[in-house]
Amino acid sequence: MILSPSLLSSNFGKFAEELAALEAAGVKWVHWDVMDGRFVPNITFGQPVIQALRPCSKLFFDVHLMIEEPERYVAEFKAAGADMLVIHAEATKHVQRVLAEIRRLGMQAGLAFNPATPLSMLKWVAADVDMVLLMSVNPGFGGQKFIPATYGKIREARRILMAQGFGAVKIQIDGGVCPENAKALVNAGADVLVSGSAFFKHPPYKARLAAFAAALD
Ligand code: DX5
Ligand code: ZN
Repeated sequence: MILSPSLLSSNFGKFAEELAALEAAGVKWVHWDVMDGRFVPNITFGQPVIQALRPCSKLFFDVHLMIEEPERYVAEFKAAGADMLVIHAEATKHVQRVLAEIRRLGMQAGLAFNPATPLSMLKWVAADVDMVLLMSVNPGFGGQKFIPATYGKIREARRILMAQGFGAVKIQIDGGVCPENAKALVNAGADVLVSGSAFFKHPPYKARLAAFAAALD
C-alpha cells in the first residue's frame, strides 16, 4: 500500500516545510488537489504553486485535477513537475485523448471517477491508464464522510482491469480514508490511499504513517 497524503489538509502557508516533514517521515507520495471553482465548488492552487515547490521535494507528485477541460493544462502541469496527472472522467469529452497526451509528455496517467459515475468507460481505456482514482466522497472538500459503496466499486474496477489484462494498474481511493478503513480498502483491491484530514490532523507524521501501515496487519 502507498499512502499519498493530501496537502489540502496541510498548512497552505508552509508547503515547503510540510513537504520536508513528509519526506523526513518516510512518506513517498504527496497528493496535490487542484480545484478550479467550476468542476468543484472550491478553489485551491494551480501549476505555478506546484512548480515553485518542485525544487523543494523529491516526493512523487500525485496531481489530482478537479478542473473542467483538463486538456488545456496538461503541458503546464508537466512543466510544473507532476509525476502522475489524474483527470476526471466527467471533466472532458475526450478522455482517451487526454490520457494519451499525459503519457506522451512522460507523466503517468490517472483517471478519476466521482462516487455516482459508472465505471463503464474503464474497459475502453484500461490500456491508457497507470492508475484509477475512485472518489469515496464528492470532490471539493476535505474532512467528509467516507461513502461505503466504494468497496464494491473497488472490486468492480479490479475485475474490469484484470479482464482486460491490465491487472497492474493501480487503484487509488480518495476521501474519508483513515486507519480504521484502510485494511478493508486494501483487501477490496486498493493500492494507493489518499489521506487529508486523517493524516495531517494527527502529527507527528512519522507516527501517523506507521499507524496507517499497522492498520493493515
Ligand atoms: C477531495 C480531495 C481529497 C481530499 C481528501 O476533493 O480530492 O484528496 O483532500 O481529504 P480527506 O482525507 O480529509 O477526506
Ligand atoms: Zn484528491
